[in-house]
Amino acid sequence: MDDPAFDVETDLQTQSILLAAANHDTASLRNLLRNSSANVQDAETGFTPLHAAIAACEPDADEDTKEVNGHTNGDTNGAKENIKQQEVDAAVKTMKLLFENGAIWNDLDSNGETPGCIAHRLGLKALYELCVDAGVRAELLLSRLDEYQPLGDAESDEEEDDEEDDEGAETTAQDVEVVDMSQEDAQGDESTENPNYLASTLTFDRDRLLDGSANGVMMEWETTLMRRSAELLLPTSGLRVLNVGHGMGIIDGIIQEKQPKSHHIIEAHPDVINRMKEQGWHEKPGVVIHEGRWQDIVPALVEKGELFDAIYFDTFAEEYKALREFFTEYVIGLLDPAGGSDGEGGRFGFFNGMGADRQVVYDVYNKIVEIDLFEAGFDTEWETISVPNLDKQGEWEGVRRKYWVLDEYKLPTCSFIG
Ligand SMILES: C[S@@+](CC[C@H](N)C(=O)[O-])C[C@H]1O[C@@H](n2cnc3c(N)ncnc32)[C@H](O)[C@@H]1O
Repeated sequence: MDDPAFDVETDLQTQSILLAAANHDTASLRNLLRNSSANVQDAETGFTPLHAAIAACEPDADEDTKEVNGHTNGDTNGAKENIKQQEVDAAVKTMKLLFENGAIWNDLDSNGETPGCIAHRLGLKALYELCVDAGVRAELLLSRLDEYQPLGDAESDEEEDDEEDDEGAETTAQDVEVVDMSQEDAQGDESTENPNYLASTLTFDRDRLLDGSANGVMMEWETTLMRRSAELLLPTSGLRVLNVGHGMGIIDGIIQEKQPKSHHIIEAHPDVINRMKEQGWHEKPGVVIHEGRWQDIVPALVEKGELFDAIYFDTFAEEYKALREFFTEYVIGLLDPAGGSDGEGGRFGFFNGMGADRQVVYDVYNKIVEIDLFEAGFDTEWETISVPNLDKQGEWEGVRRKYWVLDEYKLPTCSFIG
């Protein structure tokens, strides 16, 4: 579209929407959204109306100075708090209106921030929670649409119906403007797809395991997380354990310390399997190694009626969908409902690292995984563990992408409901 008049008009419309959003002027915004999208972006800042509505609540630098210099008294402080609360309330209304009109929760501005990132940075909890909830709604809908399959066979009349159904599904997806988080995570990086990863050559260093593209597969800093997971899953010795993904063998080493009755390990990468052989894993007490992808191994274990007191899952280069498939389809058949250290049922745990390169995405994933676990029949207990500053420790030197930037890890332990 090369009509300059059209460009100017579009730009004006964009600026009007952004201004109305920043002013929390819901009346004007509602009018403007009748003919325009809620997902316009400023060409320079990359701000969407959501970014603008949140950023407008940032306190002026002047106000901070006044406070620091002690020029405020209790009264003005109270009045200021009031104004701030009114501003946040107005921002909440504006954001709700934008979400009702299909605003995308995780668009990036030119600073690389989503609206939720700005709310988090400014400590605006109510606004942050709105972003997280919008993310959960969008992603749950996306996963449901992903499962959607047109009914009926491919015969003549029904084919037409199917097409209509398909169109219906597409319209729904566009209406709510959902964006797949897992795509954002992988950012089209083919090296992080499971078949490519499994075909790559691995490098084992003292404190890290890297794939052929220098992606961090496993790192020693995760030992604290592995140890705590093993403690919660195996409170006593003599239990039957299944671990999916050997990696550096950190959790498997800790499981061995707990003297399990049996210790099954599923591992797919040939380099990891070779290293396991070099290190004598095949001879360790109770160890049974299953070589191959869990997708090819687990169905046979279920068929055999193999039962476990504890299951841990930590693979690499797989989407969230794979983890969900694992606990929805298989854990139910592998975990002994009368097992565990107290006979009250086995426990399931997994490495909870989805979306950990951005706080808001991590929080969205945590809510989604809890909902999906509940639907699959599990109660989840969460334990928060501090993670040291990995940048300061130089952990990421030579690693392609920081897959962890957060201060806290949420450790999940799942057991059957009831
Ligand atoms: C992050 S590491 C596991 C680290 C381990 N928890 C530890 O404590 O060292 C992931 C492991 O899963 C393996 N893996 C990846 N995809 C797999 C699949 N589909 N089936 C089985 N293992 C897989 C990788 O080869 C890698 O050894």
